[in-house]
Amino acid sequence: MKDKLSILNDKIAKAKVGGGEARIEKQHAKNKLTARERIDYLLDEDSFEEIGMFVTHRTTDFGMANQQFYGDGVVTGYGTINKRLVYIFAQDFTVFGGALSETHAEKICKIMDMAMQVGAPFIGLNDSGGARIQEGVRSLGGYADIFYRNVKASGVIPQISAIMGPCAGGAVYSPAMTDFTMMVENTSYMFVTGPNVVKTVTNEEVTSEELGGAHTHATKSGVTHLTSANDVACLEDLKKLISYVPQSNQEKPIDLPYQLGDEIRNELTSIVPDNPNKPYDMHAVINGITDEDSFFEIHKEYADNIIVGFARLAGKSVGVVANQPMSLAGVLDVDSSKKAARFTRFCDCFNIPLLVLVDVPGFLPGTDQEWNGIITNGAKLLYALSEATVPKVTVITRKAYGGAYDVMNSKHIGADFNFAWPGAEIAVMGAKGASEIIFKREIQAADDPVAKLAEKEKEYADKFANPYRAAARGFIDEVILPENTRRKLIKAFATLENKELEMPYKKHGNIPL
Ligand code: COA
Repeated sequence: MKDKLSILNDKIAKAKVGGGEARIEKQHAKNKLTARERIDYLLDEDSFEEIGMFVTHRTTDFGMANQQFYGDGVVTGYGTINKRLVYIFAQDFTVFGGALSETHAEKICKIMDMAMQVGAPFIGLNDSGGARIQEGVRSLGGYADIFYRNVKASGVIPQISAIMGPCAGGAVYSPAMTDFTMMVENTSYMFVTGPNVVKTVTNEEVTSEELGGAHTHATKSGVTHLTSANDVACLEDLKKLISYVPQSNQEKPIDLPYQLGDEIRNELTSIVPDNPNKPYDMHAVINGITDEDSFFEIHKEYADNIIVGFARLAGKSVGVVANQPMSLAGVLDVDSSKKAARFTRFCDCFNIPLLVLVDVPGFLPGTDQEWNGIITNGAKLLYALSEATVPKVTVITRKAYGGAYDVMNSKHIGADFNFAWPGAEIAVMGAKGASEIIFKREIQAADDPVAKLAEKEKEYADKFANPYRAAARGFIDEVILPENTRRKLIKAFATLENKELEMPYKKHGNIPL
């Protein structure tokens, strides 16, 4: 028996060093943690249970039969984050550069199936040279087995991908289909084809970092939702993200304990400037309304004319979608519509109520927008908010103009409560543009057209640049004082706690893509 125990202990010790000490040192020298260190950091102490520690590949080509490493380049299993069960894989770059073999893929698929069956989040820590070159199509098949499961799991369990090293070629498509992609600055990159292929095909000279580093994907492509300075910061963000989401689509997010007080927030009164053309930071409104330090922004550096993220209201998780007047006056454009639509759909999949804060002058005009499909892309947000059946509450802080008024969670597309602050302007368009069109002849015929325009502008603004026309119709449920907003929202969401809304049966909708 003693021999058998020592055989097991030897095997475990071997598995734990992956590709060996020298390669571990190389990993550390790149300022990266190893797969096991990452899992240890992310999960609660002693909670990790490994599955498939002794799996090895089955390849014999290219002398591979003699190159066997326990685990085959990926550590898989389950554990807890703040006592909540998650299933996890972490690719081990010290074994064949974390390249994905048939058996490596089988290990990942096994835990994905388990996560689906028990209803728990699935987390992937990616650090891989891509398809295991020695295995050819078997490795590609392995990727597709994972992709297929990503799609089946979409909307059933939360799926989160952290990119903590290379992620190239087919490997990018699993993270792309998960709910959130996170990247580490300077040590991770994602691209379909690397700089060498780019040079050959398009003659462009570009570094890996420029082509697909964390900064690029955070600002230009929007492929990554979160970026972090290093592995530890990334894992901390992952823990935080998990805290806002439920285990599966069958559950609600966990509430934090919260003792209600008067919930009046006087600081909200002075945020919106008197001059309607002056910007202000919508973050101040979000932070004033939600629980202290609870706002966790997603996609922060991408399309910053809209803000999305999770927050808590009296301890309960909510998804926030808010126009940002500080950037492009808060207009809706192609990128901001896509960003907000994707976030809205995540919240709706996972029973996270939506809070929509509106200050929107309309859609961004121009050839660039039209030719890039603002029609189809704007429709994504309209579609996403319309189809969402979670509790949906809107606060118009200032402008709600044109089609953007409809899109931004208006009463007409199923919002449960629509509030407006007293300075809200809800109309088809701004007073100047409107007057120029409808009073065109009168202005042209006037002795002083400039004075006439100003007079007509004032007339239009007095009539429409306020929330009371909409309130008279019931499109706005209540015009509220800014300082009461938090209190109103806590009550509104509490009354919607058991909201149930069935949409007509369909195989799936056909969101404009
Ligand atoms: N298949 C098999 N082994 C791979 C691999 C792959 N796709 N990618 C890397 N490896 C192995 C290397 O042979 C090396 O093995 P060793 O430790 O025995 O020397 C180890 O992983 C580390 O790779 P290395 O190239 O030394 O690391 P690096 O940090 O300098 O570069 C990459 C990392 C990912 C940029 C580089 O390895 C690479 O370009 N890999 C191929 C990427 C690719 O084209 N994949 C297929 C398309 S999906």
